[in-house]
Amino acid sequence: MGKTFDIGLGRLAGTSVSVSVPLNEAQDPPSKIEGGAPGTGEVKAAGLGDSPCATGAETFYLETFGCQMNEHDSEKVAGVLLARGYKQVESAESASVVLYNTCSIREKAAQKVFSRLGEYRFTQQEGQIIGVLGCVAQQEGEKIFSRAPWVSLVCGSASYRKLPQLLAQLEAGNRRVTGLETDTDETFETEVTRRDNPWRAYLTIIEGCDKACSYCVVPFTRGPERSRTSESILEEVRRLADAGYTEVQLLGQTVNSYADPSARKMRFSELLVAVAEVPGIRRVRFTTSHPRDFGKDIVDAIEAVPAICEHVHLPVQSGSTKVLRAMARTYTRGEYLEKVALLRVAKREISLTTDLIVGFPGETERDFEETLSLLDLAQYDGAFCFKYSPRPNTPSLKMDDAIPEEEKSRRLAILMEKQREIQRGRNERLIGQSFEVMVEGKSKKEHQWSGHTSSNKVMNFTSREQESLGDYVHVKVTAATPNSLVGEKIGMTEG
Ligand code: 5AD
Ligand code: SF4
Repeated sequence: MGKTFDIGLGRLAGTSVSVSVPLNEAQDPPSKIEGGAPGTGEVKAAGLGDSPCATGAETFYLETFGCQMNEHDSEKVAGVLLARGYKQVESAESASVVLYNTCSIREKAAQKVFSRLGEYRFTQQEGQIIGVLGCVAQQEGEKIFSRAPWVSLVCGSASYRKLPQLLAQLEAGNRRVTGLETDTDETFETEVTRRDNPWRAYLTIIEGCDKACSYCVVPFTRGPERSRTSESILEEVRRLADAGYTEVQLLGQTVNSYADPSARKMRFSELLVAVAEVPGIRRVRFTTSHPRDFGKDIVDAIEAVPAICEHVHLPVQSGSTKVLRAMARTYTRGEYLEKVALLRVAKREISLTTDLIVGFPGETERDFEETLSLLDLAQYDGAFCFKYSPRPNTPSLKMDDAIPEEEKSRRLAILMEKQREIQRGRNERLIGQSFEVMVEGKSKKEHQWSGHTSSNKVMNFTSREQESLGDYVHVKVTAATPNSLVGEKIGMTEG
């Protein structure tokens, strides 16, 4: 199958520093089907229980583009369809339903979807349903039907709970169906989620985004912010722990803007602690944090509770206050650096990663230099670097002073090279230290294993023993590259 399991930061593809480590076929993490009671009472009321079932012959093929939120949405979509009697298959050719969960954050990602859809124009089987899900679906809506008339289903993330009904309508003879509401205050919770990794579970705690950064399509494609109740989150974490998961990753476009809608009004930092205290949970991660809502209470929680991972992903986007203002990021360079200072004085060493955009309209050479100098100050452990990509409906689309493509490429290359050297230095400092690593993959090379540290660094290590995937081991760092650590196992860690 030649499958790779992304063990980088697992974020949006692009010019990032994440790495994919090949896994042996035998070592592919088996996926788990998660069942049981849905997270909240509201879920049952939402009608999933009444949705139609497949006859048993239906199969689906699901391909996912984009971010972790999309990956996790796909796990839920698969869970919903499996629970309705559909079987998942590995190739589009043999599926009765082909679904693409799409990303539109940058133009390239959106184009990729249409070129993939173009391929299916010629291979579509008689009666086969082709559906577009996710951000491109939400953004383009019914226009997809005219651009790709062989598509019969278009559904954005806020409407996934309706998928079984939409498929039933198609099977009943409707030619085209859509689910495009974004103003729902429901979050997509499912009775069953088919999780791709048996030890690490993703959990969306907040959907949508209210931040309105001037370059970003997310507020349009994923709608306004909606948080799940703390009670429903904790109930799901307890179920996950009972099912053997030891790591949970809390997801949200702005995860730390979490606002508990229940009377308990748990703060995000309190939620982190409560999740970490669930028996059986050894690691809690969270992504993505917005600098405006990032406070000392989160750092205090990381400091106090070892199970909360020592890693914060805090996108800065630009080092220039002028550009940040044009981006409507709601903080200045100085305010961002104050947040970084909170992390740097913590007793635990907390790794810091970020997202950066070069070539935003009006970005001068001086602004760009401010971004470069911010890298020196922030000393990031990783950075996802992007060229600005104009997106439909966004305020920055109409801004003057577009930066030529070649200039964007030049700035991107300089930025990445600088960050690479910073990462090299940061990782080399760790040689001689030892870290707990979750064993996540076996390399084709003999005695070579891989996993992540609590700080989310990729560790490729040697062990002559037969390791069990999902175990936690101690590894001493013997060498480092800009993107990963190299080490030797020195022992097991206690559960
Ligand atoms: N152009 C380039 N990069 C973008 N991002 C979001 N929108 C755009 C855009 N229009 C980047 C930001 C964000 C990450 C998920 O994608 O850096 O943090
Ligand atoms: Fe987009 Fe800004 Fe919201 Fe992040 S915070 S999803 S960049 S609008």
